[in-house]
Amino acid sequence: MYINFWYPVCTSDELATESPLQVQLLALRFVAFRDSDGRAFVLSDTCVHRGGSLGKGTVSGNCIACPYHGWQYSGDGHCRYIPSAGDGKIPARAKVDSYPVEERYGIVFAFLGDLPEAERPPLYEIEEYDSEGWRANEIAILNVNCYYERSMENGLDPVHNEFVHPAQGFPPIHKETFRSWEESWGTRFEAYFGDPKLENTTFAKDRNVTGELRAGSWFHGPNVLITSIFVNAESNMVQYFFEAPVDENRTKIYFVNMRNFALEPATDEKMMQVNLRIASEDIAILESLYPVRTPDSLSSELMTSSDEIIVKYRDWLRSWEKKGWRIDRKSLGRDEGDVAYAIPCPARRTTGNWVLQSVPLMPADSSACR
Ligand code: FES
Ligand SMILES: [Fe+2]
Repeated sequence: MYINFWYPVCTSDELATESPLQVQLLALRFVAFRDSDGRAFVLSDTCVHRGGSLGKGTVSGNCIACPYHGWQYSGDGHCRYIPSAGDGKIPARAKVDSYPVEERYGIVFAFLGDLPEAERPPLYEIEEYDSEGWRANEIAILNVNCYYERSMENGLDPVHNEFVHPAQGFPPIHKETFRSWEESWGTRFEAYFGDPKLENTTFAKDRNVTGELRAGSWFHGPNVLITSIFVNAESNMVQYFFEAPVDENRTKIYFVNMRNFALEPATDEKMMQVNLRIASEDIAILESLYPVRTPDSLSSELMTSSDEIIVKYRDWLRSWEKKGWRIDRKSLGRDEGDVAYAIPCPARRTTGNWVLQSVPLMPADSSACR
């Protein structure tokens, strides 16, 4: 798990009420709330007074109040009011981490890290969203009992389709039928299937227009996976999976499906049923993988040439580890219940006086090349 990327925290609808939401991400606790002006905020959940959970508190005007002794924090993380402080003074250390937030596609995203704005990896943009000729399904949430990197690698694996999703009926893929290239925050592949007839398969009806059948996937950062399927020359479906690592065993996936064919709203439900059936085929595999987490060494598995994109994904992960962005999850696990850690927010780069310890990170390597 890595700091300094954008993570989905909840849907916009979930924050429509005045109640805050306690959310677990990267094995740590956060609180999301909407203030009286409708702005969404994401803060570290642990009140620095004596450990109250802000997520169990209440929203009061533009602040969130801790349920234990009523300290109130504004969206920037600063404590504004301490009911028991007779003199009204607020100590300089009375603050919690506050993270940059963007609301897009009906999802609340937070940048969980301390990089200044100019250096942050961008939140991935769904370029078809709200575009003429495209339709988005309602967001689907997939709760999967697997480590998020296993889920990412499944989506980057061109060969599994033939075996895990036989109903798609796509011709087999091998190294000669796909090519890959680098993007700014990940690697992409596309597989080419020629112009096959797909009889009695999920996509048979949409193959009645001919044209090359092709499909590809790519990743953006450690936790965004995109799959594009050209069912025929014109009909394209692009699937966006924003993955939230809940902890080292669980992943919550926010799935946005875009399509430029069968645009009638009545098709949404059927389309989603097909997608969820396909996702359930993946989930059955993912929840039975062993070990649960991806091994740190390539030699602990037997990669072949068709695993090229997965090897690339691990190369990218290593490059982010070298920057010092990888959470030391073993130290974190060892201190579970003893130490309240927080992901460092951007304000930690410019100010001191923080009560909570910053999450332990794997050491950076100054020879990092990416
Ligand atoms: S623990 Fe939050 S106000 Fe005391
Ligand atoms: Fe799959």
